[in-house]
Amino acid sequence: GQVKFDYSKTAGYVHEHEVESMKALTESARKLLLSKSGAGNDYLGWIDLPVDYDKEEFARIKKAAEKIKSDSDVLVVIGIGGSYLGARAAIEFLGHNFFNSVSKDLRKAPEIYFVGNSISSNYLAGLVDVIGDRDFSVNIISKSGTTTEPAIAFRVFKKMLEEKYGKDGAAKRIYATTDKAKGALKKLADAEGYEEFVVPDDVGGRFSVLTAVGLLSIAVSGVDIDELMAGAASARKRCIENDFDNNDAMQYAALRNIMLRKGKSVEILCDYEPSLHYTLEWWKQLMGESEGKDNKGLFPASVDLTTDLHSMGQFIQDGSRIMFETVLNVEKTSREIVIEKEDEDLDGLNYLAGKTMDFVNKCAMNGTILAHTDGNTPNLRVDIPEQTPFYLGELFYFFEFACGLSGYMLGVNPFNQPGVESYKKNMFALLGKPGYEAEGEELRKRI
Ligand code: PA5
Repeated sequence: GQVKFDYSKTAGYVHEHEVESMKALTESARKLLLSKSGAGNDYLGWIDLPVDYDKEEFARIKKAAEKIKSDSDVLVVIGIGGSYLGARAAIEFLGHNFFNSVSKDLRKAPEIYFVGNSISSNYLAGLVDVIGDRDFSVNIISKSGTTTEPAIAFRVFKKMLEEKYGKDGAAKRIYATTDKAKGALKKLADAEGYEEFVVPDDVGGRFSVLTAVGLLSIAVSGVDIDELMAGAASARKRCIENDFDNNDAMQYAALRNIMLRKGKSVEILCDYEPSLHYTLEWWKQLMGESEGKDNKGLFPASVDLTTDLHSMGQFIQDGSRIMFETVLNVEKTSREIVIEKEDEDLDGLNYLAGKTMDFVNKCAMNGTILAHTDGNTPNLRVDIPEQTPFYLGELFYFFEFACGLSGYMLGVNPFNQPGVESYKKNMFALLGKPGYEAEGEELRKRI
């Protein structure tokens, strides 16, 4: 098996000649990407990452993960945006729904919590409660090393570690993932002697899940990170070698751009497994930050199904006709539950006796795809054979490559994010950060 893209359900809405006419554009976007001659070409390190990564660091990541597993009940992962979502997506995709370890024997791995992805003191204080007096370690992740949200959280947990284990003991429990040379976190890590991992210069945050940014905490959760990389490598080969007709990423990039040009300006990514929730969040950042610029782009949205069929389903079926859906279909569930027969059929469910819950889930999915298609919300589908590290590696790479192609087809630089800075400037001005005094005065008048 392999991760596959399927647009057969758009027949009647998207015509073959439309796809045909996108082939050349998709191919030229791929040439631009692979020849590294397009916009943002200093951020293309992710393309070869699955086959060309720092093996020495990879081994160190595994060693650090083993140490954390052996001396910590809890791992606190501090980061935001591209320094957060990939790891969370992977750990939830591959782990237990209620315990973030891949082991079905529940607690074989440390509990993993993410913080520094908001500025909520309530959330942070709650995590301090949850850790209690248990042993813990911290992975602080920030490429720039200066992002406010993680920096504030790190101060708190660094102090907690130092009070608990002393300065030297704390330093042995802090793992810093940051730039190889610059930024406040790099300086701090050097000064305190933390173990350091590198965010490569040429890999942007939202493309960094397969670097130390994602890999350390993913490894701590018990995932075989070699398998994850192998899956990404296998998708990479298909993405860069296959022609359009055998290239899922190229077809997906083409279809999204056809949809956009037909007036479908919102793409909703859907899952039928709660454990894929953060995969959708990761994808939203990937697509949104890459394409949403120059007043252009598809708005990436997401729904968890069938959950949200009972909330957003009405709109998707029948509201403004501005969207299309891309369904993530896990073909084989990790665990089966068979619906049993009851003597008295009071709830009327005996017609399902002997069927699996996953059969019901798939009927819901197929029924929904057809209903939404009939309601003029066209449906694309991505088939994932199983929730394994290998297929997740394929999925990550498939979306990253499609994103690069799609951005070039749209005519934007998919690898920068100038818009992310505006709120930071205002926040710093309002906080009275040195250097922002004049802006602060102006803004306060407007509040
Ligand atoms: O993709 C991006 O650039 C952002 O989402 C960043 O990843 C996020 O702001 C965190 O940045 P940093 O890793 O520098 O702390």
